[in-house]
Amino acid sequence: MFIETVKWVGGIDGHLEMIDQRLLPSRFELLACRDTEALFEAIRTLAIRGAPAIGVAAAYGLCLAARAIPQDADGARAMIRITQQADYLASSRPTAVNLFWALDRVRRSAHAYATLKGFTLEGFRETILTQAHAIADEDKQMCLQIGRFGEPLVPDGGTILTHCNAGALATAGQGTALSPLYEAHRKSKRFSVFADETRPLLQGARLTAWELQQAGIETTVICDTMAAWLMKQGRIDAVIVGADRIAANGDTANKIGTYGLSVLAAAHGVPFYVAAPSSTFDLSIPDGSRIVIEQRNGEEVTTFRGIRLAPEDVGVYNPAFDVTDASRITAIITERGVIERPTKETIAEVLSRVRRS
Ligand code: MRU
Repeated sequence: MFIETVKWVGGIDGHLEMIDQRLLPSRFELLACRDTEALFEAIRTLAIRGAPAIGVAAAYGLCLAARAIPQDADGARAMIRITQQADYLASSRPTAVNLFWALDRVRRSAHAYATLKGFTLEGFRETILTQAHAIADEDKQMCLQIGRFGEPLVPDGGTILTHCNAGALATAGQGTALSPLYEAHRKSKRFSVFADETRPLLQGARLTAWELQQAGIETTVICDTMAAWLMKQGRIDAVIVGADRIAANGDTANKIGTYGLSVLAAAHGVPFYVAAPSSTFDLSIPDGSRIVIEQRNGEEVTTFRGIRLAPEDVGVYNPAFDVTDASRITAIITERGVIERPTKETIAEVLSRVRRS
């Protein structure tokens, strides 16, 4: 059984419920979002985070937007509202492409319905909810498939290093980078995990350690600075991380610190895997230089939960993500198969495969 990170409660008049990840691991609380403003804030402040989970939440966000459409609206007016609100939600975070992908997908199905002769507002709202449910269900399936394809890469008796959180808390299902670990655990493989704490917001220490513990997987938290020393001692057999956006050539944006790990892995001969669903690929950009990197508030670096860690007014650099060159990635594990030594051609070939369910 997996943690339910995000779910829609009720029918077309329902609301969105999510685990408030800002509070983990000290408190487990659910957060209800009943309008797009509440959801925007939840995404911006990382109550919900992780590329696929943001996409699913945003898709449901358009159900919240549809709730606020006046009863007498026709298809054109309903679409104006949905388009405005999709643009608004899209501005909550810039890097994870799943956000734009999911909003665009819902917007397109809403548009197809809005132009029908027999338009009713109820039918419009049903259409949007159905599409959002489909995105959430597919995400669960994609996570499972990534787990199945990735499980053979988890060595029996081995040790895996992961960064940030690309688990159940980051998706609607059992995660991306952590999914092969869950499958390996299910098959009774013996292995253990090192979780980078992931400064500055500690997604590894707070979230990955928490969810792996819930699953009974042996986990050790390390400061990000310790990974190199572990590799030098030969104590890491593979690195598996998630992704926020993968360009057509395989360059991959993920949580800040991922690029450094890829350099370390190459220097120590450790395989470096990225696990991500097809919804995380952005084939419209040729390489990683076109990925927008989110810059976050410097307070995230200089304070933690209200405690000051650095002097007031000191300069701060706080990019939330970095880009790992495709050449440093051993393989990308997707729901359609494993892309070894990713290139534009191998990515296009694997992504063109029909999804297996
Ligand atoms: O800032 P976050 O916590 O949203 O960053 C999350 C990551 O970088 C994850 O590794 C990525 O989104 C993949 S989640 C399956």
